[in-house]
Amino acid sequence: MGRLIIVSNRTPAPGERTQPAGGLTVGLYDAVQTRETVWFGWSGHQHADAADRPVQREQVGNVNYVTFDLTQKQYDRFYLNFSNGVLWPLCHYRTNLIRYTREDCDVYYEANRVFADRLIAFLEPGDTIWIHDYHVFPLGQMLRDRGVTGRIGFFLHIPFPPWSVARLLPKLDMLLTGLAACDLIGVQTPEDEANLRGCFEAYGLKAAVKAVPIGIDPVSFRQQAIKSAASDEVVKIVDTLEGTRLIIGVDRLDYSKGLPERMKGFEALLKNYPEHRGQVTFLQVTPVSRGGVESYRLLKEELDGLVGTINGAYGTPDWVPIRYTTWPIGRDILAGLYRMADVGFVTPLRDGMNLVAKEFIAAQDEEDPGVLVLSRFAGAAPEMPEALLINPLDAEGMADALHIGLTMDVQARHAAWSAMYEEVSRNTAGSWSKQFLDSLEAIHPCP
Ligand code: UDP
Ligand code: G6P
Repeated sequence: MGRLIIVSNRTPAPGERTQPAGGLTVGLYDAVQTRETVWFGWSGHQHADAADRPVQREQVGNVNYVTFDLTQKQYDRFYLNFSNGVLWPLCHYRTNLIRYTREDCDVYYEANRVFADRLIAFLEPGDTIWIHDYHVFPLGQMLRDRGVTGRIGFFLHIPFPPWSVARLLPKLDMLLTGLAACDLIGVQTPEDEANLRGCFEAYGLKAAVKAVPIGIDPVSFRQQAIKSAASDEVVKIVDTLEGTRLIIGVDRLDYSKGLPERMKGFEALLKNYPEHRGQVTFLQVTPVSRGGVESYRLLKEELDGLVGTINGAYGTPDWVPIRYTTWPIGRDILAGLYRMADVGFVTPLRDGMNLVAKEFIAAQDEEDPGVLVLSRFAGAAPEMPEALLINPLDAEGMADALHIGLTMDVQARHAAWSAMYEEVSRNTAGSWSKQFLDSLEAIHPCP
């Protein structure tokens, strides 16, 4: 078997530990532990002389991380403005948040050429190249233009919208032409598959598209949760809850996650079910993300205000309803907190997958599992129909689901949890990457 070359903008390479983890690096990291792998991407740093600086290399286990710096202009225009100010809102159906300029688009292609030129020097015959996410849509075509004839796969970790939405993007045809140069394009859900196929067809482009939902490594995460729940750090946090029930939310501070809506759902619980006042604590872990994009800054202001308003209206001198932090928390600690929680509260307006939902299930105590309240619009929802499925626009509906979750008997909780745990164990990070790579191999066999 040849080497696997992973390409993504964000890498889990040391040096950017201040960033909150995202589903891409978490899921892929779990998936690549068994094969000789080169993981190629941005270092997380900007440098004025980025073009002249050599790549940084670090071997950790079987993975060789090869990373390079971007210029400040590339960071601003490729990463912030175009990737996260145009493609992210477009793919999450938030067209009013798109801020397009031609120069940002040009720098997006320029940065993709940097990825291609840097990568080409590392390639060997027999490599399988696997490109990840919206930052590098055109990379497959650029590698083909530079003479790469081997296998190239692509996986999109975020949703893909229907043609009626996608066509708002200027030069969508150019973007899709670049993507179609890959042998296989994986997406998270059947809905994304149908949408992307529809867009290719609209331009008469041929491409293989397949839904392959990403998973986690539930066995190691579960072990981590058991260990972490007994750790001094988690015990200390749980002690401060003083016996109140725990509802937990964990998300990057992103408008796709339905965070203001979630706060309003919790507020409706306190309003409509006053018996929970003083009895429940909602812990929301929300590390700041992409703070250089205006829509993210505005969201933070809105959320800060909402949390203050709800805590002011319902809190008492001895009880704070919402605990809210905008700093990242290590995934090991989170595992223990999920395990100690009565309810996992996951309310995206649109999400590619949402690994937090799967982690919450993997972490639960089999004897006394917590309940998952999950948005119908998470990519995880079709795989987890036993969750209490909600619409994040319906605050009263979310309050009802929280109340049901907080009062559900252990048999009902166990039945729902075990069905979801079975699914999380069936479709893991390892089986996801195997399924994708086997399909890629079938389309483009070894010579
Ligand atoms: N996460 C973390 N620390 C935090 C917040 C999140 O380690 O403070 C992890 C979380 O456990 C999950 C990932 O980041 O593994 C988020 O993935 P998800 O698919 O839920 O959302 P994304 O960030 O990719 O949109
Ligand atoms: C999502 C995206 C990833 C991205 C992550 C964190 O999971 O699909 O591509 O890496 O969010 O976002 P960031 O902008 O910090 O890389």
